[in-house]
Amino acid sequence: MLMQGGGRRHPQFMTKGDKMSTPSRSLPGGTWTLGDLTVTRFGYGAMQLAGPGVMGPPADREGALAVLREAVDLGITHIDTSDAYGPRVTNELIREALHPYPESLHIVTKVGATRDEQGGWPTARRPEDLRRQVHDNLRSLGLDVLDLVNLRLGDAGGPRPGSLAEAFETLVELRQQGLIRHLGVSNATEEQVAEAQSIAPIVCVQNMYNLAHRHDDKLIDRLAADGVAYVPFFPLGGFTPLQSSALSAVAARLKATRMSVALAWLLQRSPNILLIPGTSSTAHLHENVAGAGLSLSREDLTELDGIGG
Ligand SMILES: NC(=O)c1ccc[n+]([C@@H]2O[C@H](COP(=O)([O-])OP(=O)(O)OC[C@H]3O[C@@H](n4cnc5c(N)ncnc54)[C@H](OP(=O)(O)O)[C@@H]3O)[C@@H](O)[C@H]2O)c1
Repeated sequence: MLMQGGGRRHPQFMTKGDKMSTPSRSLPGGTWTLGDLTVTRFGYGAMQLAGPGVMGPPADREGALAVLREAVDLGITHIDTSDAYGPRVTNELIREALHPYPESLHIVTKVGATRDEQGGWPTARRPEDLRRQVHDNLRSLGLDVLDLVNLRLGDAGGPRPGSLAEAFETLVELRQQGLIRHLGVSNATEEQVAEAQSIAPIVCVQNMYNLAHRHDDKLIDRLAADGVAYVPFFPLGGFTPLQSSALSAVAARLKATRMSVALAWLLQRSPNILLIPGTSSTAHLHENVAGAGLSLSREDLTELDGIGG
């Protein structure tokens, strides 16, 4: 990861506060390669570190910084964020907690939406909006190059049909200028994923998906065949925690939490699925890392598959 004010440094020349790249410990799910970047399949979603409604600062700032540091200490090498979270709040917390970043850490951001004073997420996908957002992310994260940028499509209600060509081509140009290493799309329809792939390679799709919302089942399998990652957002249900009697029954049988079962199911669903569960609690972070390694039997999987059917 290239950083403002120095870039990669040989360990010998590291100053106090610099971090050696941490070899990835054994996290559930192992690793996946996004283009040329190896990440742990168990990642971390930073959105809910901002204040209520993803606006303003967190109630517990020190706690938020501690969660980010703990995630990296646990060996997580994939953090998902956006300059729209807060806005700027989440990126600035990441920078404060983790800069200078370990080489092994890959921060994935997204552009295509901004924030209004009411906390809404108006779309901002004109070329000039996207250029501004890429520069905003570089600045708030303290980077010279962004490892992976997702073009966020649709709106808060979900994906919407329509061509992404002009917006995606703008990001391709920014990548050619050396500001972005890899591209992805988010909140996208299957047609938009295919359209992006016809313009330039993508390394991931980040859409809403979890045990109860399985609209993308076919897309996940197609992307797996193409070697493209699928990164479900709201893996635990987001603002509305997953509720299901089948999920509770399987969790009770395995003496595990519903969160653990939901994460373990995603890891076992397909090898190209990368997890970015969010939490503002180090206790939940530990619980989720431990829980995602749960082994689900064929019987458990059949019961769980019925939830989204
Ligand atoms: N591309 C997009 O349009 C888009 C949209 C939404 C989100 N995202 C990304 O996806 C990431 C994940 O989504 P998310 O964080 O909104 O939702 P999520 O991961 O489905 O759920 C997070 C919620 O679950 C709770 N939680 C986590 N672990 C728990 C545990 N062990 N026990 C009890 N509660 C637990 C958290 O509360 P605590 O803080 O109390 O643990 C938080 O409220 C985001 O952080 C963001 O990076 C992308």
